[in-house]
Amino acid sequence: MTAPRAQLATRPLPEGLEAFAAEATGMNSGRLRSLLTNLPAAFRNIERCLRPEEGGITRRELVRSPEVLLVLAGMEPGHSEAPHDHPGSLSAFRVLRGVAVVTRFGMDDRGSLVVASLDTYLPGSVLVQDETEVRSLGNDRSAAEALVTLHVYLPAPAIRIYTEGGVT
Ligand SMILES: [Fe+2]
Repeated sequence: MTAPRAQLATRPLPEGLEAFAAEATGMNSGRLRSLLTNLPAAFRNIERCLRPEEGGITRRELVRSPEVLLVLAGMEPGHSEAPHDHPGSLSAFRVLRGVAVVTRFGMDDRGSLVVASLDTYLPGSVLVQDETEVRSLGNDRSAAEALVTLHVYLPAPAIRIYTEGGVT
């Protein structure tokens, strides 16, 4: 895992992101999936507002309020998040560019984290994560390009990371 980098100077953001975030506020998982599936045309090229080639994992906060956080995330080939969940936060993301590799985890009888599934998602795919699902997002090391994803969190999450030694 690589730590997120500081925000970099990038293209100006399209108008309407605050209204989009406000619309998402309070949504349930089904409506949130629909919102990202039917992403407004003005945001379809929003991945250009991030420069993931700057290295590792890149995040650009688009909108933050007490109820919602909107983030553009980039990940170069060979990088992935640590297994984690988002207690208290419903979240979803849409793949904008590249291929997302999502690993989902469960617990064995001794409480150790074990891989439950590994799936890949193409651009346009939308994934919803409930607050207790433990997973990690990655970009395969053999991938031809950076992965760029658009994330909505309701509200901004307290991320709980799982390691060999337990939860941090
Ligand atoms: Fe996450």
